[in-house]
Amino acid sequence: MRARLGRECLYVPSCRLGMYLALRHWVKPGGRVLMAPVNDDVIFFVVLAAGLKPVMAPVHHEDGSIDMAAIPDATWEGLSAVLTVNIYGNPDPVMELRSRCHLMGIPLIEDCAHAIGTTVGGRLVGTFGEASTYSLGKHLGARTGGILAIADPAQRRTLEAARDELLAPGNLLSELAYGIRPYAESAVRGLRLTSLAWAVVRLLGMEERGPDIRMPLRAARLVEALNHAPSLLPFNDWVKVDMHDYRMRPGKLRLGRTEGMLAELDTLLNAYREGTAKLLESRWAIRRPGPVQPLFQVPLLVEDREGTRNLLHRNRINTGYLYDPPLDVYAAAFTEHSRTPEAAEWFGRHAMPADPLKADRILKVLDRAGVAPAPPFSPRQVTRHPLSTGRKVRRPSSRTLTTEAFSTFPEPPAAPEPLSTPTDISGSPGYREQSTMQLRAADLVPEDHTVQIRTPAAPGPFPGEPRA
Ligand SMILES: Cc1ncc(COP(=O)(O)O)c(C=O)c1O
Repeated sequence: MRARLGRECLYVPSCRLGMYLALRHWVKPGGRVLMAPVNDDVIFFVVLAAGLKPVMAPVHHEDGSIDMAAIPDATWEGLSAVLTVNIYGNPDPVMELRSRCHLMGIPLIEDCAHAIGTTVGGRLVGTFGEASTYSLGKHLGARTGGILAIADPAQRRTLEAARDELLAPGNLLSELAYGIRPYAESAVRGLRLTSLAWAVVRLLGMEERGPDIRMPLRAARLVEALNHAPSLLPFNDWVKVDMHDYRMRPGKLRLGRTEGMLAELDTLLNAYREGTAKLLESRWAIRRPGPVQPLFQVPLLVEDREGTRNLLHRNRINTGYLYDPPLDVYAAAFTEHSRTPEAAEWFGRHAMPADPLKADRILKVLDRAGVAPAPPFSPRQVTRHPLSTGRKVRRPSSRTLTTEAFSTFPEPPAAPEPLSTPTDISGSPGYREQSTMQLRAADLVPEDHTVQIRTPAAPGPFPGEPRA
């Protein structure tokens, strides 16, 4: 990856851990971070764990990328960083965002989990900002590992030390399970038991996300965890979803297999590009100008997304990576809302992610069933999500969260609170990061369901923490 990106790269057990490291290193706790609401919820919780306030950016309805022109001046004021997500591999307007960040003197952090082969102006995304993170579990399918790439090689040692402090010890059982998993999976596929396997997983309650696309928010517990931010472990229950070994020290098997897969990346990206081109030619896609990218998923815009998803499942085509509802609807109290949320809601509702490697099968199924494309987007005609308040969005001003009517993100307290003893609720031998936040249990579930949250009073003892 270093040769590919021309940047210093650090191996991390997962993209989410790399993102946590990057945010802690470059953004002072308490800061506001601009990001798209059409995004993975795990990354949202990583932002919260880093003690930051997610500020929702307006997006384009065609592909969920950040709509630069629609960001109000007021949103830019006081931002501490911009986090691009390049959802499904479609690039955010990274050049414009970089110029703006440069002008404001704030870092640009790029999440390239879906965009390992995406280019802008002939240059790979992930090479524009201060740092970028990659997931080796996406295009590559390694089911483990990530890369944190950095612009300034001098930061490597500090980040490496911070990573090592967060690593949990590896264990033989998990390494063994990792080793045999591909064989077990191909046996299940060979016996055409995939649907049955999923049904059993659901029956046993092993599916962490439940029946919804988003994981359960558990708002009251999230409020509790926020009192420990910045710190990763209090957020473990959210951050670990879909990947419990996200901070496990990798064994030789994992590293060896991943290296082998990385050697084939270009061949794989060509296959993704080919499949993307086919899907983009279909009547369910909106093709934006520029060269075809090797998208991780192609968002097909269909009228009935759930019906289409069921249809694909019935035809043994698994789907995933849906982001509905947008984060400012899903976790309204914990975000600064976008002032123009309609495109994000529309995209979340109509985008059916299609795996380019299964392009032919998917197109055949959709064609045969006569699946209807999404109606044209019109902001006035978007029916708001049942969870959304329907109200015009307010700027956050309150310091109070209510567990019943979440609507604003808490402001920092006027005066810093005295520090309590460091909190370590992990019980994990590999965990040494400490939080300096004060937890007041009595504040958590008071009788009127009103919760006072303290934003970080002082940065935690995190290696490389900005001190200014
Ligand atoms: C957009 C996005 N970013 C980051 C991640 C996290 O990647 P990893 O599973 O490697 O931690 C995901 C995971 O699905 C994702 O969809």
